[in-house]
Amino acid sequence: VRLALCLALLAGCGKSVPEATLSFARDGKPIGALTTGQLRDKAERITAVDPYYKKQKRWLAVPIGEVLARGFGKLPAAGDELLMRAKDGYTVPVAAARLAESGAYLAIADLDLPAWEPIGPQRSDPAPFYLVWTGATQQDLEAYPRPWALASIEIARVETVFPHVVPSGEAADSPVMKGFTLFRGACLRCHAINREGGRVGPDLNVPKSIVEYRPEDQIRAYIRDPLTFRYGAMPAHPQLSDADLDALIAYFHAMKSRKHDPK
Ligand code: HEC
Repeated sequence: VRLALCLALLAGCGKSVPEATLSFARDGKPIGALTTGQLRDKAERITAVDPYYKKQKRWLAVPIGEVLARGFGKLPAAGDELLMRAKDGYTVPVAAARLAESGAYLAIADLDLPAWEPIGPQRSDPAPFYLVWTGATQQDLEAYPRPWALASIEIARVETVFPHVVPSGEAADSPVMKGFTLFRGACLRCHAINREGGRVGPDLNVPKSIVEYRPEDQIRAYIRDPLTFRYGAMPAHPQLSDADLDALIAYFHAMKSRKHDPK
C-alpha cells in the first residue's frame, strides 16, 4: 500500500517536475537515453545506510544492471570501464566489474523527502539520479563511488577520453605511473589535468602546475586533510601513505613538463 501511495505521489510529482534524462555513450558517441519514466517500472523500494547522509535512507531505485542493459542495449563487458558524469562536472571512472557486484542501484526518487534531501554542508542536490550501494561492505567512497546528479554514463577508458592526463613514456613501475594510478582512481573525478577530467576542483596542471606555486609539504598536508586549510569541498585522504603522496607529487612534476592547454 505504501509503495502504491508513493508511486501515485511520484506520478503526481511528475506533472510539476520535468522528467529527467540519463544519456548513454560509447567512446564519445551518444547511443541513447533513458527517462525517469522509462526506469520507473523496474524500480524497487530499497533501504540502506548512506555514508554521505550518515544515516539510513529509503529510495525508489533500479538495479544498476537493469539501467546499463537498457541504456547500452546490453550489459557492458566485464573488462569495460564506465565514466559516470554528473551535472557539475564530477566524472568518476568505475569498473563494469564493480558495478556488476550485487548492491549497486540507481536511485530515482528519495522516499524520505520527495524533493530529495540535500547532501552535506554544501547542501548538494542529488536529484535526479544518484548511484547508491546497499551492502554493508560497500560504504567506502573511493572503492564504491556515489556520483549524484548523474547526467551520463559512457563506456570508455580514461586514457582514451582524457589522453592528456597520461604521463606518456614513463615506465610502468615508476613512481610517476604509481602516482597516475592513484590520481586516476581518487582525484580525477574532481580535478582536471591539462583541462581533462573532473570540474569540481581546480585543474592541477594548467596554467600553472600545483608544484609550481605551492610548497610540496603544503600540498601533501592539503591532500591528507584539506579542512585544516579551508572549509572547502575536497574530502580528506587519511588513507594515503607517505609513499602514495610522494608518487602523487612525482606525477605532478611529470605533468608539469607535459602541459597541454588548448585555447
Ligand atoms: C570530491 C571532489 C574532490 C576530490 C575527490 C579531490 N579533490 Fe582536491 N580539491 C577539490 C576542491 C573543490 C578543491 C578546491 C578547494 C576546496 O574546496 O577545498 C580542491 C583543492 C585541491 C588542491 C589545492 C589546490 C590549490 O591550488 O589550492 C590540491 C593540491 C588537491 N585538491 C589535490 C587533490 C588530490 C591529489 C586528490 C586525490 C587524492 C584530490 N584533490 C581529490 C575537490 C576534490
